[in-house]
Amino acid sequence: MQNKLFIQASNAEHTTRTPVWLMRQAGRILPEYRKVRETAGDFKTLVKTPELATEVTIQPVTILDVDAAIIFSDILVIPEAMGLTYEMEENKGPMFPKKISAPRDLNGLHVAHEQELQYVLDAIKLTKKELNGKVPLIGFAGAPWTIFSYMVEGKGSKTFSAAKKMLYTQPEFSHQLLEMITQSTINYLKGQINAGADVIQIFDSWAGILGPEQYHEFSLPYISKICDAIDEAPKIVFAKGAFFARAEMNEINCDVVGLDWNMEIEESRSLVPDKVLQGNLDPCALYGSFDDVKRETKKMLDAFGPTKHIANLGHGLYPDTEVDKVKCFIDTVKEYSAAKSFASK
Ligand code: CP3
Repeated sequence: MQNKLFIQASNAEHTTRTPVWLMRQAGRILPEYRKVRETAGDFKTLVKTPELATEVTIQPVTILDVDAAIIFSDILVIPEAMGLTYEMEENKGPMFPKKISAPRDLNGLHVAHEQELQYVLDAIKLTKKELNGKVPLIGFAGAPWTIFSYMVEGKGSKTFSAAKKMLYTQPEFSHQLLEMITQSTINYLKGQINAGADVIQIFDSWAGILGPEQYHEFSLPYISKICDAIDEAPKIVFAKGAFFARAEMNEINCDVVGLDWNMEIEESRSLVPDKVLQGNLDPCALYGSFDDVKRETKKMLDAFGPTKHIANLGHGLYPDTEVDKVKCFIDTVKEYSAAKSFASK
């Protein structure tokens, strides 16, 4: 591996500078992505064609010079492999023609095995070959609660009230479905690591929809189970909005905890002292001028300090972000964190 910074930092090892990558770095902002997307015709064809998925996975490494690649796929491939297919509607987002609303709906579902996601594993193998050791490759999956909420809602939602209603009214059934998703995710992540993923990230994008009590009952135990089942690679857990669960995040069997921009950095260090932290610039900070981006990025780096930090945004890039502002963020992380004055802090 030529650039080991991201893996070293994931293992809490000392690095010569802070590594940097961005959530949703593939796809959202690059014109080069949109070209490949047009060739593919639709999102799912792109995800299911390893040559094309490989190409768009590598684009941000070449164009933005990030320290890690993340495999181009989606968290919704898991429900599909379990028997609930999704559609990606143009400019609208995901939609499930059938959703889960009662115990009888489990009849059509099964625990997914890695072979059912062979197209992702093939894309990982091909990407590893093409990267040729340039940077590490991140594999990923959604956290069971986030996947559950899509399977029950059938689409995105502001409140996820149908999914939360299920937790309140059918807790046993909810646990049954969460357990099936968990087992599927363990199989899938192990498959990704066998195929070549160097580090894995679990996205709990809708963590913040739950209160602390429900989060402890319906999300954290399943994330924890996944982390306990996987010891073949470093694990990153990013639970958007779960500021109340930071102390518990310190106790689960993962290596890196992702922070969103609502989470204060010094406070997070004291609540999560044993983990490497990842994040957490507000993606909207990239709408500022170049000087603004530099200033905000340096402020963030100062707050995290020179060790046990992987620079990233506090959530995925927004589609209308200028590529040059993203480059400015990346370059600032590299230059500022490599300076002697910073490293000796
Ligand atoms: O990070 C990367 O660049 C790798 C690829 C990636 C995609 N989705 C590609 C994608 C990753 C890591 C994801 C994860 C994902 N997908 C999450 C968790 C991360 C997060 O942002 O919280 C979630 C919640 C989803 C579900 C999903 N997929 C939604 C809500 C949408 C529609 C809106 C959008 O653009 O995010 C998608 C579609 C999707 N997934 C696109 C891409 C590039 C856009 C589809 C297109 O090209 O038409």
